[in-house]
Order: sequence, then C-alpha cells, then structure tokens
Amino acid sequence: MSSAPERQSVLFVCLGNICRSPAAEGVFRDLVHREGAAARFVIESAGTGGWHLGELPDSRMRAAAARRGIQLESRARQVTLEDFRAFDHVLAMDASVHQELLRRCPPTSHGKVRLFRDLDPEGPGDVPDPYYGGPDGFEEVLDIVDRTGRAWFVAMTERKR
Ligand code: 4NP
Repeated sequence: MSSAPERQSVLFVCLGNICRSPAAEGVFRDLVHREGAAARFVIESAGTGGWHLGELPDSRMRAAAARRGIQLESRARQVTLEDFRAFDHVLAMDASVHQELLRRCPPTSHGKVRLFRDLDPEGPGDVPDPYYGGPDGFEEVLDIVDRTGRAWFVAMTERKR
C-alpha cells in the first residue's frame, strides 16, 4: 500500500465563493490544524462566478462559523485555468458547479475535479446554496462540510482512494 504524498493541495469551489466553499475551506483548515497536519496541506477556495471578487464571506456564514469557533477570513476569487494545474483536488459544492468546472478544465485534469459530497457518509448530493434562504441553511452547510471534510481528510491521508 502506498503512503499519502508529503503535501496535498485542495481547492473547494462553489458559485459565489462567499458561502459554501469558504465554509468548507475554513472547516477543513480547522480540522487539518487540529489533526496536526497543517504543514501537509494547501487549502483554498474559489467560485465559478465573479460577482463578489475580493469580498469576505457572507456575514451570515461568518457568524454561523464563528459560533463554532471557526473564523472565515478568505477573500472571494474566481477559479482560474491555473487552478486545474496547481491543485491536486478540486472539489465542487454542487452538481452544476461540477459540470461547469469540467467544462472549463483541460481534459488531462478531469480526474481532479470531484463532487464534494461524493464522500458524505450520509449520502451524496449537493451542498444546498444558503444565499437566498433562512439561517438554518448556514447551519446545514456547516454540518455537511464538517462530516464530509472529515471523510476527505481520512481519504487523503490514508490513501484509500
Ligand atoms: P455560494 O453562494 O456559491 O455558496 O458562495 C452564493 C453566493 C452569491 C451568489 C450565488 C451563490 N450570487 O449570485 O451572488
């Protein structure tokens, strides 16, 4: 059995890069730190859209994360062609983002582009977009990225997949 590589890079991608993917980035980074594995990961997030470039995550998403002890401090950016070369894992928050990423991605890198919730222990699907909904949506996003991020961490560090 081969061991996990020394360093892995992970890019979480949603539509606006102000709700779901910054939450996944922050929660995954927190997990990796707590596991003592920070030096072994590069973690970022991006959006397929460019409406919120340079902005902090949505204040409702930041507040919900802060209540769990996680500060979300990334600035929104759009996914680039270079990302498909630079990152080992490009994880889409929903099926339409996944399709859009595959459309933009050079065919040689298609294998890096995965649906985030494919490893959700509670089953696959979309991370629901909380942007136009109520406060429960932000809690649901955090629950999903917490349990699913943990599953990715296990997969990436144990080289199971
Ligand atoms: P996200 O949510 O993709 O989870 O960051 C959205 C945020 C903003 C917009 C869409 C989705 N928007 O259209 O501005």
